[in-house]
Amino acid sequence: MAEHQDETRAAYDGVVDLYASLFANRLETQPFARNMIGTFAELVRGTGNPRAADVGCGPGHLTAMLHELGLDAFGLDLSPGMIDHARRAHPTVRFDEARMEALPVEDGALGGVLAHYSMIHTPHAELPALLAEQARVLAPGGLLLVSFFATDGPEPIRFDHKVTPAYSWPVDLLAELLTGAGLAPFARLLHDPASERGFLDAHLLARLR
Ligand SMILES: C[S@@+](CC[C@H](N)C(=O)[O-])C[C@H]1O[C@@H](n2cnc3c(N)ncnc32)[C@H](O)[C@@H]1O
Repeated sequence: MAEHQDETRAAYDGVVDLYASLFANRLETQPFARNMIGTFAELVRGTGNPRAADVGCGPGHLTAMLHELGLDAFGLDLSPGMIDHARRAHPTVRFDEARMEALPVEDGALGGVLAHYSMIHTPHAELPALLAEQARVLAPGGLLLVSFFATDGPEPIRFDHKVTPAYSWPVDLLAELLTGAGLAPFARLLHDPASERGFLDAHLLARLR
């Protein structure tokens, strides 16, 4: 495992209860993100394959939401503390410790992958392989929704996220990388930040070609 992943795991393990108390109900005040996830779930259901992974699921609230939206969803996270919390908070939902870079999922198995602010700690150079791994587990026509911090500038920006260093990316750059991974980006939503960092909040929807 890369050193930065060790750091990310240790950082999230150290803030499980605080993170859950701040974010587990956050979407109640975030209609854009909530509705993008609703759209994602509807499109995944439309593929006829409701099996979906919430990668970097954290405390598991979005995995549970995907269930409520009719998906056969499970959560994966590299932080054992987050997985422990998610299992206790949502005992009927499946959660496993895993890295997004090596998903414990067979090729072409899923109708959808949700990555809600979970790729934000990945250095830009590692994104092509990370996106290819998400594409590997999707069935043809399967959906990937990536939510992240966006910058208007031409280059990714590394910043001091409260938990551990993170990146904001130009949306077009992420769209190009998705295309390079065999996915077709077809919808994007940008909105003024709910965070205090000043980056745009971005949601990109892509479909496996
Ligand atoms: C900002 S939190 C987002 C959690 C949740 N998706 C949400 O929206 O509240 C980032 C999560 O991604 C997980 N994560 C970061 N890098 C990961 C990786 N390489 N593989 C799996 N999980 C990862 C972290 O442990 C953390 O729980």
